[in-house]
Amino acid sequence: MCGIVAYIGQQEATPILTEGLKRLEYRGYDSAGLAVIRDGKLTIRRAVGRISALEERLDNEVQQAQVGIAHTRWATHGAPTEDNAHPHRDATGKLALVHNGIIENYRVLSQYLKTQGIELETDTDTEVLAKLVGHLYEGSLEDAVREALREVRGTFGIAAVHTDEPGVIVAARRGSPLIVGVGQDEFIIASDAAAIIQHTSQVIYLSDNEIAVVGDGGFRSTTLEAAPVSKEVEEIEWTLEQLELGGHQHFMIKEICEQPESIRNAMRGRLDLDASRIVLGGLANVTRELTRTKRIILTACGTAWHAGMIGEYLIEQIARIPCETEYASEFRYRNPIIDDGTTIIAISQSGETADTLAALREAREKGALAIGIVNSVGSTIARETDAGVYLHVGPEIGVASTKAFVGQVTVLSMIAAMLGRRRHMSHADCDTYLRALAQVPDLIERTLAVSDQTREIAQQYIERSNWLYLGRGIQYPVALEGALKLKEISYIHAEGLPAAEMKHGPIALINEGMPVVIITPRGHWYDKIINNVEQVRSRGGSVIAVATEGDKQIEKLADHVIFVPDLPEELQPLLTVIPLQLLAYHAAVLRGCDVDKPRNLAKSVTVE
Ligand code: G6P
Repeated sequence: MCGIVAYIGQQEATPILTEGLKRLEYRGYDSAGLAVIRDGKLTIRRAVGRISALEERLDNEVQQAQVGIAHTRWATHGAPTEDNAHPHRDATGKLALVHNGIIENYRVLSQYLKTQGIELETDTDTEVLAKLVGHLYEGSLEDAVREALREVRGTFGIAAVHTDEPGVIVAARRGSPLIVGVGQDEFIIASDAAAIIQHTSQVIYLSDNEIAVVGDGGFRSTTLEAAPVSKEVEEIEWTLEQLELGGHQHFMIKEICEQPESIRNAMRGRLDLDASRIVLGGLANVTRELTRTKRIILTACGTAWHAGMIGEYLIEQIARIPCETEYASEFRYRNPIIDDGTTIIAISQSGETADTLAALREAREKGALAIGIVNSVGSTIARETDAGVYLHVGPEIGVASTKAFVGQVTVLSMIAAMLGRRRHMSHADCDTYLRALAQVPDLIERTLAVSDQTREIAQQYIERSNWLYLGRGIQYPVALEGALKLKEISYIHAEGLPAAEMKHGPIALINEGMPVVIITPRGHWYDKIINNVEQVRSRGGSVIAVATEGDKQIEKLADHVIFVPDLPEELQPLLTVIPLQLLAYHAAVLRGCDVDKPRNLAKSVTVE
């Protein structure tokens, strides 16, 4: 995600800022920038791409300053261009601001600024905040920031400077981390301790809704309501590597564990529970056309294809629109029939997968409406679609996709409900559905508690070289995804199947002790899948069931039961996949595999 570094003290700011940004590179970014004040003048330099591209632009103008703010941007609003990169300035050009997080009401705020005669130059939510703080400035940056933040809905970590007060940096946070490193007559503020640790291990952690002022007067902090807050200086004891991984052993487990937060971000500002409505700004221009579409083709590769299969089920069940999911690599060469009224939805974490892009182009060429569900803002697929929905789950570093998958399913759940509601879904049904969806981040949090149990199960079957994963209906793609996770990172052969198909062949594989993961949440397939559990047991297989909390029956039948909280059937995959991610992760660790960089695999496959 985005990163912030800010410095004020006796040393030269620019090298400290760029060095700090490099420490945050592991978080992923697509552009970078910095602003310094020297001799009462504010200078900003920004660049798309790597920090080295920014360094090439660091001329004399940004040298010898002793105060500055810097940022690495992971685009959320607006493409990763130089104009959209931070820092952003106010209308007077005297203030610069960097921001992490999402300002949900930025449209309303930008309307307000327009009425005040303030024009916006970029597509970002951050510029709105910079302009708003500048507009409210009357001689105190701290007061202007406070006043502006009171108007803001959403999340932020910010740092701001103003040429009229070159001796201070003002920082604030809500839902986005910010840490103040305390040195000898100097302060270094960062969104992540990794950028601070080489300077000092003495830090102050800002809390939500807190504003800090650092600089020549030392450190002080207040609440958004201006009440003073007293803070303790704490000692960081972690190494740099531990910090980057947030205390986890691998990026994959870090990303699994951050799913409650990433899914919260994927839904932020999009669920209007009061009006029982889904607000997907990226589809606004095509909503009418999409609602009337006669057929939807979902296309993707790998994990994203599994998300597409779940999307197919959701769109058919909830929106009642005929839907099919296609491997992009097959679809692109099939001379597909695209009639008037066909919509193609390309799903991709990276937005750069060559097969998905080619499938999208093929369908577009034939006249389909093209929608993207993409994580990487401004990526090729995002640019080549008519409209789309970003995942907003943050950069995914582990090669085996986890949080992007759950993000894709979350977005598809929202699209299905948006279309359903516009076609025939009742207000009451939509209300129930949205309220359940809003619970998902908390329920994922609860589900993550099965981690130790999945490790014990993995340990028990670690020598088995063949596993089966069975699911029915909407859980069938979850079974495929669970099997893929295990294959990808632990190199154990695993096969995912629609449970009823087992009797048509794969049942021959089952022998004494073979691990068979069966996804059996409550729902209208429950009784049928219980039959599959019995078929496996009677042939000596070991059943690892993923079931709904409180299910007593399954406890008697399965060798192991991993419980997940209850949810309406359509939303269950958002929870049932979590134990499967954990199971694969622990199996790979126990087998000593390189979890984040599995052999032969690439995170983004930009070749055919
Ligand atoms: C590669 C990755 C998979 C991923 C697939 C699609 O094969 O190893 O993890 O699911 O590409 O990637 P995309 O970026 O399009 O979602």
